[in-house]
Amino acid sequence: MDDVMKVFKEFHSMPSKEKLNECSNGSCKLYTSGENHKRDAVHYWKDTLTHPCPPSSPQEYIKYWPNKPSNYRKVVGKYAEEVRKLGMKILEILCEGLGIRREYFLCGGLSENPSLVVHHYPPCPDPTLTLGLAKHRDPSIITILLQDKNVRGLQVLKDHEWFGVDPIPYAFVVNIGLLLQIISNGRLIGAEHRVVTNLRNARTSVAYFINPSNESIIEPAKDLFINGSTQKTMYKSMSYQEFRTNFFHKGPKIESELHN
Ligand code: OGA
Ligand code: NI
Repeated sequence: MDDVMKVFKEFHSMPSKEKLNECSNGSCKLYTSGENHKRDAVHYWKDTLTHPCPPSSPQEYIKYWPNKPSNYRKVVGKYAEEVRKLGMKILEILCEGLGIRREYFLCGGLSENPSLVVHHYPPCPDPTLTLGLAKHRDPSIITILLQDKNVRGLQVLKDHEWFGVDPIPYAFVVNIGLLLQIISNGRLIGAEHRVVTNLRNARTSVAYFINPSNESIIEPAKDLFINGSTQKTMYKSMSYQEFRTNFFHKGPKIESELHN
């Protein structure tokens, strides 16, 4: 955890131009503060690096990852492998709690397209003017988040109030995402969260999103409705591709369209 945090801090301390150079192919992207502004019409105070890390063919995708700092691919590759094992374990336990097959997320490509999203929030001269990241639920199944040990920023909404999720050294924050909300038919609800900016310190966070392949069908798990249960399906079924396109265009507003 320390090694990967160090590598990402080093990456984000490079000049934007150099960072962009390291992300010059299609699957690895760098969104700078300016670009986030254009994309979401909201000025987020951060730079974000993102790339896929599909578990099935590491050699094929690792060559598109940044190559600076020089140990990037080795350290991040190892991290992605370990955090996936943890994520799959957590999903198995969630399945058990929901009463669905333990292997549910190993099927239908549901966990085949994970990605790493690495945010860098620079110090902000006036934190009252902008957020690091506005209120949202993650568009994932679950997200495993590694926080900077020393800098606060993440907040979660509970009973209409924001609470700080302060970093605990060597602990992860695990978010239920919107996709799991659909799959669990609303028994598990995606956590609403945001990131506030900080006057003095830069903050780095590393989110591992467990995401499906584009063709995967996202719908309430059929196992939930056996045994003569009278429960109704609350959400429409759709491909992950469809969900993603929608989310990209409408952001959190799509939540109202997911229902049956
Ligand atoms: C996200 C997210 C939180 C953070 O990437 O979706 O909520 O602490 N990140 O950066
Ligand atoms: Ni999030």
